[in-house]
This record gives sequence, structure tokens and C-alpha cells, in this order.
Amino acid sequence: MEMREHEGRIIRPIRDEEWGDTMALVWRVFLRYEVEDYSTEGVNNFRDFIADDTLYMMFRQGVYRVFGCFEGPKICGMISVRSGNHISLLFVDEKSQRQGIGANLMRYLCDCLVEEGQSRVTVNSSPYAVGFYHRMGFTDTDEVQYSQGISFTPMEFIL
Ligand SMILES: CC(C)(COP(=O)(O)OP(=O)(O)OC[C@H]1O[C@@H](n2cnc3c(N)ncnc32)[C@H](O)[C@@H]1OP(=O)(O)O)[C@@H](O)C(=O)NCCC(=O)NCCS
Repeated sequence: MEMREHEGRIIRPIRDEEWGDTMALVWRVFLRYEVEDYSTEGVNNFRDFIADDTLYMMFRQGVYRVFGCFEGPKICGMISVRSGNHISLLFVDEKSQRQGIGANLMRYLCDCLVEEGQSRVTVNSSPYAVGFYHRMGFTDTDEVQYSQGISFTPMEFIL
């Protein structure tokens, strides 16, 4: 799916030259909302994950897919998917939260996955986003996990 418009905002795959701004948004929102739930090790692991050249190369090869929500040229939210149907990152800028952007990014992604023949989507939810994913209809598939300084709840949504 190429592009979807909603209330003046456009959701579409990000372009190569938008990678830097997209990861800057992720890091900014992470520091504002998620950092307190992570140990120092977890924060360093997260920073290394988004700054990793391998991730960028996987994006360039189309293996790691990233979709952005844009207000004009400015990115205000993003969602990424790996391994075909696993949500890797979902971040909405502070000033743009609670306006339906996260839900619209999610719908866009789910529609893409249905078109591709996927039957479910999975996520390891951050502690902060558990309420959001439950609101979106996700259900827990396991108890809270803790790995490499990061705690998360594995969830799924049947498409
Ligand atoms: C989680 C996040 C992506 C939600 O984005 P958003 O654009 O604010 O979400 P929406 O406005 O689309 O909200 C959709 C619904 O979820 C609810 N919701 C949003 N955030 C919520 C939260 N933290 N807890 C409980 N419910 C939440 C909204 O009230 C709304 O409910 P409604 O349909 O009854 O109105 C955003 O808060 C964020 O970037 N958080 C920090 C990063 C993060 O934790 N990402 C997840 C990584 S796995």
C-alpha cells in the first residue's frame, strides 16, 4: 500500500533520506516516555538498536519496513515491522499524541499485512504502551518478560 490520507496527515513508507529524522523522533519520544522503565543497559541497547548500520541496511533492502505519518514535510509518528508481521517500533511525537495517529498507523499496517496474506500481527509492548495496545484489541500471549535491560509484554492481534 502506498499512501493513505487522514485529517490532513499522510501515512506512507518513509524515504531513504527520511531515516535520520525518523530515528531522531524515535529517540526523542523514547527519552520522554520510556526511559524511566529501562535500566542503563536497556537504554544503551535501545540506542544501539536504532543507531545500528545493520538496521539501516535492512531498511534499504526492504526487509525492515518503516511507515511514517506526515504533517506536510514533518514526520509526527512512525511504525516499523520486522520478520513479516512483528511490530518493531511505534512512536508518536509528544505534541501529536492522543489524536488518533498511533491508531491510524496501526490500521494502515494491519491493512498492509492483510493484503500480504498475514493472519496475525505481534508486538513486544513497552510498559508505557500496554494500555494503548489493549485498546487496539491486542491480547497478551505471555507474562511480562525481561531481557537485556528491557521489559516488555508479548502480544498479538488476529487480523
Ligand atoms: C503508544 C503511542 C504510540 C500511542 O500513540 P497515540 O497517537 O497517542 O495513540 P492514539 O491517539 O491513536 O490512541 C488510540 C487509543 O488508545 C488510547 N491510548 C493512547 N495511549 C494510551 C496509553 N498510554 N494508555 C492507555 N490508552 C492509551 C487512546 O486514548 C485512544 O483511545 P480511544 O480510541 O478510546 O480514544 C504513543 O503514546 C507513544 O509514542 N508512546 C511512547 C512510545 C511507546 O511506548 N511506543 C510503543 C513501543 S512498543
